[in-house]
Amino acid sequence: MALLVCVCNRNNDKLMAALRAALPQETILEWPLQDEQVLTQVEFILAWNAPSSLWPKCPNLKVVHSFGAGVDGIPVNLLPQHVEVARIVDPGLADDMAQYVLGHILNHKLRVQQYRQQQSGQVWRPKRARPGHCVGIMGMGQLGQAVAAQLLSNKFTLKGWSRSEKSVAGVDHYHGRDALPAFLSDLDYLACLLPLTADTRGILNAEVFAALPDHSVIINVARGAHLDEAALLRALDQGCLGGAVLDVFAEEPLPEQSPLWRHPKVTITPHVAALTSLSTATEQIVMNYERMKQQQTLRHVIDKSAGY
Ligand code: NAP
Ligand code: GLV
Repeated sequence: MALLVCVCNRNNDKLMAALRAALPQETILEWPLQDEQVLTQVEFILAWNAPSSLWPKCPNLKVVHSFGAGVDGIPVNLLPQHVEVARIVDPGLADDMAQYVLGHILNHKLRVQQYRQQQSGQVWRPKRARPGHCVGIMGMGQLGQAVAAQLLSNKFTLKGWSRSEKSVAGVDHYHGRDALPAFLSDLDYLACLLPLTADTRGILNAEVFAALPDHSVIINVARGAHLDEAALLRALDQGCLGGAVLDVFAEEPLPEQSPLWRHPKVTITPHVAALTSLSTATEQIVMNYERMKQQQTLRHVIDKSAGY
């Protein structure tokens, strides 16, 4: 039995040390491997940006654990039926996300960037803060609800949109595609916190932008593939949207030649809205590894048929 860490494009020295300290009796391997024969012993994979060639080489796989909240990097439909997929669910991560969204809304509302530009030209031109206070959250899950709570406590008006009907205190909640136009119609800010699935890919598109008021600002903190970047640029240039805050991109790092870098209405951050904490991740991975060994129900397992 072995645990494989396949967390790509990142230095995993601290993660490997933490896992080995917490599970001293276990075989813990790190991808890439010198000898891939050893993959036949692997029952548990900790994955982030794992190559597609990996999965068929692990015939004894039981659990795939994401190194983050999202599981879109794991080919859930291609894994054998019995393989369970779990993810990180961390209140600290949710707090970070809530502060990111609040911070960027306040940044826009208080015209921080505008005054920074005026400062560089020693321009004194006072204006009232932008009045908009209605925020729509697409995806009222673990993170969406934390963002809603943060914004409610800062006196914003909240609308939420999910797949299923739900009641969240203080939030005007909508569900399903048919309700999307009503959800979007009067938003000042739209934050996307959906998981990336076949249903949500490309959901931030021309149709959605047209349904929003012209001054509204999109905040995409979910996945780059939710957004039609060309449609966003058209909407911004035609004055159909007020701005965009983008933390995630179809291609990361964002390519040098992307026009998003230089667009005056776009704020870019390098996929940092809510970063996985090493200590919480280690705790949750170790807990699920031990639960797997003891044949207990795993925590934070996704519904593979829904893809999240
Ligand atoms: P979650 O708890 O699984 O919540 C997902 C929410 O999206 C649920 O409310 C779900 O509806 C809704 N949803 C799913 N499919 C839908 C559809 N087709 N139509 C409408 N609503 C739909 O996920 P989470 O933990 O909040 O995380 C959300 C995403 O944030 C992750 O998947 C990841 O991509 C992203 N993320 C980004 C960062 C970053 O740093 N930028 C960090 C962490 C996570 P129901 O409630 O009806 O099921
Ligand atoms: C980060 O994007 C995550 O899914 O945790």
